[in-house]
Amino acid sequence: MLKKFYKTFKKEAFPEVCVLQAESENKFCDTVISIDWYKILFNRISFISLATQKFNDCKYLEIGTDLNLCFNCIPVIDKTGVDPKRGGTVRKKSDDFFKNNKKIFDVIFVDGLHTFEQCRKDVVNSINFLNVGGYLFIHDLIPRNFMEEYVPPMGTPWSGDVWKVAQELSKSDGINFHVIKADHGIGLVKKVRENVNYYDDHKRLIKLKFKDFLEINSEINYIEAEEAIKIIKK
Ligand SMILES: C[S@@+](CC[C@H](N)C(=O)[O-])C[C@H]1O[C@@H](n2cnc3c(N)ncnc32)[C@H](O)[C@@H]1O
Repeated sequence: MLKKFYKTFKKEAFPEVCVLQAESENKFCDTVISIDWYKILFNRISFISLATQKFNDCKYLEIGTDLNLCFNCIPVIDKTGVDPKRGGTVRKKSDDFFKNNKKIFDVIFVDGLHTFEQCRKDVVNSINFLNVGGYLFIHDLIPRNFMEEYVPPMGTPWSGDVWKVAQELSKSDGINFHVIKADHGIGLVKKVRENVNYYDDHKRLIKLKFKDFLEINSEINYIEAEEAIKIIKK
């Protein structure tokens, strides 16, 4: 479903320093996903806000708050924001927060460190502290080129390789899962039963690169922003 956005660019179209670095690890890829996120006016805040309105006294958690651009816009009283550097309400790394946490949330947004390893930990922990019927959103599941996907970051915007978490979620039981085609790709998870079976595909996925993402993303249920709104409102 993303294939229609694929375009091939000449090598010279990319910054040379990034090409050289990527080539040294066989990670250069001349295909890009040509989507302009700014042309899709719905963003993470639209979907998260909509989900929070489904709950009385919604309990909201955000992992990775940075400048509070999202956190401050969420129309909820009971908000917890976790970030070791800035924003939110808890000055900790997500692992340390979850270690001592006892609170169960209705809506969670995972947008912390954008590596597969950290994001999957944040997602598994979030699912454990999410009410049945609750929503989990995950940012940056659609990297558009090898630079956005490269770990460590080559610049901004940076999605990292958190797209691999979507591969695992798409095979997990006890949740409904879609990726919204808006705002760098937003994972939409609804927890539908208490026991969620997170599908562990770490061994295969850890080795994969942006070129592999282009090959295997057809396994993911991508939806338009308008459809996501219908699904959340249901
Ligand atoms: C992309 S920014 C978050 C943006 C914000 N959610 C928004 O929508 O405007 C990522 C943030 O994650 C934070 N971060 C990095 N590692 C983290 C960790 N282990 N736990 C929690 N936050 C982390 C960084 O400090 C940074 O502020």
